[in-house]
Amino acid sequence: MTESLRVPLTTAEVERIRNDFPILSRSVNGHPLVYLDTGATSQNPISVMEAEQEYYEQRNAAVHRGAHTLAAEATDLFEQARDKVAAFIGAADDEVVWTSNATEALNLVAYSIGNASLGRGGTDAARFRIGPGDEIVVTEMEHHANLIPWQELAARTGASLRYIPVTDDGELDMNAAAEIIGERTRVLAVAHVSNVLGTINPVPALVSLARATGADTFVVLDACQSVPHMPINVHALDVDFAAFSAHKMLGPTGVGALYGKSELLNAMPPFLTGGSMITVVTMDHAEFLPAPQRFEAGTQRVSQAIAFGAAVDYLSHIGMDRIQQWEEHLTQKALQGLADIPGIRVLGPGRGRPRSGLVAFDTAGVHAHDVGQFLDDRGIAVRVGHHCAQPVHRRFGVTASTRASFYLYNTEAEVDDLLNAVADVRPFFGVAQTTGAAGAR
Ligand SMILES: Cc1ncc(COP(=O)(O)O)c(C=O)c1O
Repeated sequence: MTESLRVPLTTAEVERIRNDFPILSRSVNGHPLVYLDTGATSQNPISVMEAEQEYYEQRNAAVHRGAHTLAAEATDLFEQARDKVAAFIGAADDEVVWTSNATEALNLVAYSIGNASLGRGGTDAARFRIGPGDEIVVTEMEHHANLIPWQELAARTGASLRYIPVTDDGELDMNAAAEIIGERTRVLAVAHVSNVLGTINPVPALVSLARATGADTFVVLDACQSVPHMPINVHALDVDFAAFSAHKMLGPTGVGALYGKSELLNAMPPFLTGGSMITVVTMDHAEFLPAPQRFEAGTQRVSQAIAFGAAVDYLSHIGMDRIQQWEEHLTQKALQGLADIPGIRVLGPGRGRPRSGLVAFDTAGVHAHDVGQFLDDRGIAVRVGHHCAQPVHRRFGVTASTRASFYLYNTEAEVDDLLNAVADVRPFFGVAQTTGAAGAR
């Protein structure tokens, strides 16, 4: 990551940043677009779109295959992008595997462990074998992408799935975590930041618990909502794997990344198999390349990876510490404003607690989809529903919530627009007088 200036982002600088994002100047339903749905997918700066366009105009070729100039240039750019993404998270180049998205990255780890458990991968892979008596530990706040692959792995191997519960404050119950994480724990899969609660989980403490058991435990971090929003160093965190998606950090859809410790990636059996990931193939046997190629079967997502590199350049130029600080500022403003609106209950840690740049809330007497429609009528884009995290909604007694999520291109004025609109929701639907406040906190 390039050195940031350590001067906080200002409103004037955010206005300049906004000029790099053409979509932010469009209007929606007669209002200027207020885009507060970065938690689902972020918008793209011109430099990211240009990187993809330049690739198609000048270099389009399959990487790691052709002997011609276009193929060589495409391969160079593809690998340079990997270097950029690796440096961005403090990893070595060969520790970053391209995937379609974070979901595929998490499935890759789960299926590779499953393949090892079937005896694939020989002696190198023996340490990944799990079965009856072993435990996979997740948390109650996981996105389905970091829950269902582990449910499936448990079902395939006979291992048990356990979860760390969430407290009323929307934080992990660390006393329970200390009891649950033990010598049977072979996988600990946890979100760094909850996509519903905004909670920043204590990864160092969780890793310490996992390392203290003496078991060969693989710590898998769902970094989808953290890598885009704060400085991250995967080596310092000492996680074994981490997954994230380009489209949540100014990059294109169709590409994500799996970080894995080099010695683990090189010992793990592949997930997808086919061309480009082998050394020798006979009619009944194949030998595999080292990581990362062993996990990159088939023709790769070249333009997207290159554009992902451009996104990382953009974020690094602004500085992740400054982006995190700006988001915190907007989030605290939103939390303060929402606390004053009757009938709004914020899910997750209250004001002053560690939190990332998203706020999900329940609106007493009004379904989240109606809230979303009402806000959209004013040009405000938010996410509504269960955000692919049904268990944590159930934990808080709701089936759906409204989520506003902030990024480096959002302004204080947009937070005001959100607060003004949310204040009008319950009166508009006629529930303000009939349903009591649900207890904002
Ligand atoms: C915490 C978290 N994990 C995983 C995912 C899945 O990301 P993708 O759909 O890009 O694979 C998301 C996306 O919403 C997320 O917020």
